This record gives sequence, structure tokens and C-alpha cells, in this order.
Amino acid sequence: MTSSNHPDDRYPFIPGRPGPHIERTEGRHLLTSDGRRILDAGGGAVVANIGYGRREVAAVAAAAMERVTYVLPPWPTEARVDLLHRVIDEWMPAGITRGGFTSGGSESVDTALRLARQHHLSAGRAGRWRVIGRRPSYHGVTLATLAVGGHDDRRAGFEPLMPDFAQVPWDDAEALDATIREIGVDSVSAFIAEPVVGSSAGVLIADHAYWHRVADICREHGVLLIIDEVMTGFGRLGTRMGVDRWGIEPDIVVGGKGLSGGYVPIGGVYATDAVVAPIAANGDSLMFFTYGAQDMACAVAGEVLRIIDDEQLVERAATQGTALRQRLDSALAGHPHVREVRGLGLMVGVDLVADRDGDVRFPRDVAFYRRVVAEALARDVWIYPAGSGDAAPDAVMFGPAFTVTDDELDTMVAVLAESIDAAAAAVGST
Ligand SMILES: Cc1ncc(COP(=O)(O)O)c(C=O)c1O
Repeated sequence: MTSSNHPDDRYPFIPGRPGPHIERTEGRHLLTSDGRRILDAGGGAVVANIGYGRREVAAVAAAAMERVTYVLPPWPTEARVDLLHRVIDEWMPAGITRGGFTSGGSESVDTALRLARQHHLSAGRAGRWRVIGRRPSYHGVTLATLAVGGHDDRRAGFEPLMPDFAQVPWDDAEALDATIREIGVDSVSAFIAEPVVGSSAGVLIADHAYWHRVADICREHGVLLIIDEVMTGFGRLGTRMGVDRWGIEPDIVVGGKGLSGGYVPIGGVYATDAVVAPIAANGDSLMFFTYGAQDMACAVAGEVLRIIDDEQLVERAATQGTALRQRLDSALAGHPHVREVRGLGLMVGVDLVADRDGDVRFPRDVAFYRRVVAEALARDVWIYPAGSGDAAPDAVMFGPAFTVTDDELDTMVAVLAESIDAAAAAVGST
């Protein structure tokens, strides 16, 4: 199976798409064992909000681990309680009062789906179990989160293992209303959506009117509104949470990635009093994950959030995001293979096409976005691949650390432009 005797051939699990061997991470750079300095324009998987290698964070991790090794997830510890207060009081939208921690985004979305179901069950509405999602979208890779997500490529072949949940177009609120009525109001538990569609499409932004209509529809039908902030939360859009852009009040919020900026695996699920009240009143509960709310992870996340605030990095995500979009707009204006540049804060997508004038997509098997990403990596810049199949075939994303400098933005944009040209030349389309 392996092509050489190099130790790296054992990694990853499924052979075939290895990345460079990373020896160290520093600031906004990945340092390879053969001496390259890769500029991380994708923030890993759009996660590295404060940049890499902060010694204060490592010090907090060491002290926390010396103090507490393992405590059952539902039991309070200082690090857990402090983090929960900080997140609820300083980051969550109005109305969110309760919360708990997991080890990442998929676990958090999965928990949110169970929380919604348990809410209805405990309240005596056993018929409500269906979850409606959007297309395209991505909510994680457990079977339940794949099922509610609209990422065709990642779902393909797993359909027999997943419930057949309805999905509505990402920007059509009336389709949500019609679908709830069609499948039966009394059977719907929740609607789940990202504030801005991320990796499945390379950033799609519905407008204010859409979000207010969605909130009204959910309220009218007794359907819980779950907002998935795994990618958009904790400053990424230049606001504290992504949903702040729309000014709506969700019933359940899910977060991950930016909560720790990549330093530790942690995610969270947060809800209103009204969501948890029937569960508590009925004496019911939600099963935890063994590693949920791991004490050291909670301490580290608290330190990462402190750094974001002390260094005003949410504001910086907003200004550097504008600077990035301006650079992309001027470098790529009229480019034959760039259909659109779009973004909020430091979550910025570039939609790629075979022919901008005719709005013609590259054939799926060309996988143009992957070629662009590979060309950029060969030029020592990591850009995040996006797209999910027929609904959104070719896009790439920028999601760098909020500490990114103007010079680094210049490099990212110049390398993207070169990489698009090189990928187009390689497929015979210039
Ligand atoms: C919006 C959204 N939800 C959920 C997830 C899944 O998170 P994780 O990969 O941490 O399980 C992701 C990951 O990209 C995401 O972007």
C-alpha cells in the first residue's frame, strides 16, 4: 500500500493526500521539516483566530493540567464555570443563558440535535423529531450532523445510514415555511443554519430580511432555531458572534473552532432557559461525552478569549477583513475565472468558474478548486478548499488569524491570483 519506507507514509489513516510535514507553528506560519515557511491564509481549517504559539496559552495549559486531571463532565470546576460565565455573559446573543462544552464542532451540533429533541420529548411533544437544514451547508461529520447538512460530496454513499431530513435552499425563507407545513408542523423539532454558509460553498451571505423571516417562521411553528456558529463564532465575521450581524435571537447556539483558536479541542452548545426548562422539570438529562468540558481545555479557551478581548482582535478581524476584500477585488477584478469575491470579517470566499462571462462552471471531475489550493501550497500559502458538489462546485476560502498583517494579506492575494492562472493553464483554460 505504501510507496516508500518514509515514516510519514503511515499517516494519515487513508493513504493518498498527505500534506507537508509540519515541525512547528508560529504566528501565522507553518514551518515544515524541510525548511519551508507556509503562510496560513486558511487559519488551518478556519480555526486559528489568535495565531499560533502564544506562550501565555501554553502556560495556562500547564498550570491547569497540574491542578486538575479529569472530572466527570457535569461536575463544576473553576475552569468550567469561569468559561461558561465568560461565554454566556460576553459572547452569546441575548436570551442564551445555559451551556455546556464538548470536544469540537460535530459533537456540539450532534448535542444540539439531541437537545432539541429532548426539549420536545420532555414537554410532551413526542411527534416532533424532524430537523430541517439548508443546501448547501456543513454541520459536521458524525452521521446525524451529516444528515442535517447539505454537503453532497461528504454525504455521498452514506445515505442509508442517515435519516432523510428535508433541506431547503440556503436563501429561501418561504421554502422553509412551505416545507414545515408540508411535512407536518407537529413533526418538526428544529431548523439549523450557519449565519454565513462556510466550507460547503466558500461563503454565502443571506440578507437581513431572510434571517428575520426565518426567526418568525420558526417561532410561529414552534420549531427551535439552531444557529451553527462553529466557523463564524468568536470574532470571525468581525462581530462577536455571527448572528450579531442579523440581530435575531436563536433558541440554541453551537460553537467550536474559534473558542480555543486551535489550541485545544473544545466546542460548546448554548440555549435559552425555555429550551432546558421542560427537560429539568421532567427530571430528564442529556448524556455527556467522556471528554466533554475537559478541564484544561476550558482553562485554555478562557485564556484565548481573554487575548481576543485584551488585544481587540474582533475589531481587527473586521478591519483586516475589509482590507483583504479590497485587495482581492482589485487584484481579481474582471478575472475570467473569478465569478465573485464575498465575505464578512475574515471569512472571505472566492467563487471560481471556467468562464465568468458565460457563468460556466468547470466540470466536476476537474476539481478546479483543489488544483488552485495545490498551486498555492506549492507557493507556500495555505488557502482553504471550499465547495460541496453540484450546488457549489468550486470555491476557496480565506480565514487567517485576526492578527494577520497587511504584508501577509498582499502575499495571500498575489499567490491566489498566480495559483488560479497556473491551475487554469494546467487544465488548458487560460
Ligand atoms: C459550520 C460548521 N459546523 C460544524 C463543523 C464541524 O466541526 P468539527 O470539524 O470541529 O467537528 C464545521 C467544520 O468545519 C463547520 O464549519
